[in-house]
Amino acid sequence: MPDLDPTPGPSGLLIARLIGRLERDVVGQRPLLERLVVALLAGGHVLIEGVPGLAKTRSVRAIARALNLPFRRIQFTPDLLPADLTGTQVYRPATGTFDVRTGPIVASVVLADEINRAPAKVQSALLEAMQEGQVTVGDRTIVLPDPFWVLATQNPIEHEGTYPLPEAQLDRFLMKLHVDYPGRSAELAMLDLDGLARDAEPDRPPLLGPDDVRALRAEAASIRVASAIKEYAVDLVRATRDPAGYGLDLAPLIELGASPRASLALVASARAHALLSGRDYVTPHDVKTLARDVLRHRVLASFEADAEGVTPDDLIGRVLDQIRVP
Ligand SMILES: Nc1ncnc2c1ncn2[C@@H]1O[C@H](COP(=O)(O)OP(=O)(O)OP(=O)(O)O)[C@@H](O)[C@H]1O
Ligand SMILES: [Mg+2]
Repeated sequence: MPDLDPTPGPSGLLIARLIGRLERDVVGQRPLLERLVVALLAGGHVLIEGVPGLAKTRSVRAIARALNLPFRRIQFTPDLLPADLTGTQVYRPATGTFDVRTGPIVASVVLADEINRAPAKVQSALLEAMQEGQVTVGDRTIVLPDPFWVLATQNPIEHEGTYPLPEAQLDRFLMKLHVDYPGRSAELAMLDLDGLARDAEPDRPPLLGPDDVRALRAEAASIRVASAIKEYAVDLVRATRDPAGYGLDLAPLIELGASPRASLALVASARAHALLSGRDYVTPHDVKTLARDVLRHRVLASFEADAEGVTPDDLIGRVLDQIRVP
């Protein structure tokens, strides 16, 4: 990690142990694992995108196992119904009353696996829960636990028979992570991981309980951010909405820029990244490191950009090159 404090405090050590544990389960994917931890500390939901077989599901399971929190995995399929997520009311003839049977979404860590395989009404049930921290079953409102953390995975949308998430709802994810292929030596190391039973649940006690997670989140939220860095984050976001105002010739390539929610997400993520790096203050590097992950799903490339093969990552790269680092 760059900018690493030479003497990380107790939380820094705990976080380092967490990442170390994850790296033993998932090899050669450190950037992904670090970002999952950043999202955990920032208290934001994550969307993980990558082609099949890149350990998306495995990474989420690994982090869920390291946390002593109720974990549920929901496999999204075309026949899933909203009630399969949230729960149903069950009639009790003996008492003449309705009981609520809550669905798998009422957990602390929820893996929404292959989220783009379920139709829109199921996706919106999940996204509503993420936004509101509660679900409605019949006439009952169920408040979701704290922490409530959603990790969704999807394969790239070119796949047949999938339902891409609506752009407007993507904004509710703190980050959208792209998973890349591991390097050759990591792929080799993977072969020797747990022998044949690579997906066997290793018998290791969890590292963090709910109180630890809440305390680490509070600590992340209290990390100092100098005003010049806040200005830097806001300018990065605003430049996606008003490129010309920032001397960038990108307007024809951007259909829609990032919302103010993106500025909040960028600063919250930068704070968590500072904590992970053992600092109690944010550096411009924290902001820069996470800019693509926080912004790529909030910057909508125009038809023209698509035609030219320009991706949101390219657009964000141009913005990062242009905005002066404080
Ligand atoms: N970097 C890695 N470290 C350890 N195991 C890995 C790694 N990459 C892939 N694997 C192994 O490859 C297999 C596929 O992983 P996983 O199911 O998590 O992929 P996925 O990205 O969720 O794929 P899909 O999109 O098909 O669901 C698993 O057996 C997993 O253990
Ligand atoms: Mg998977």
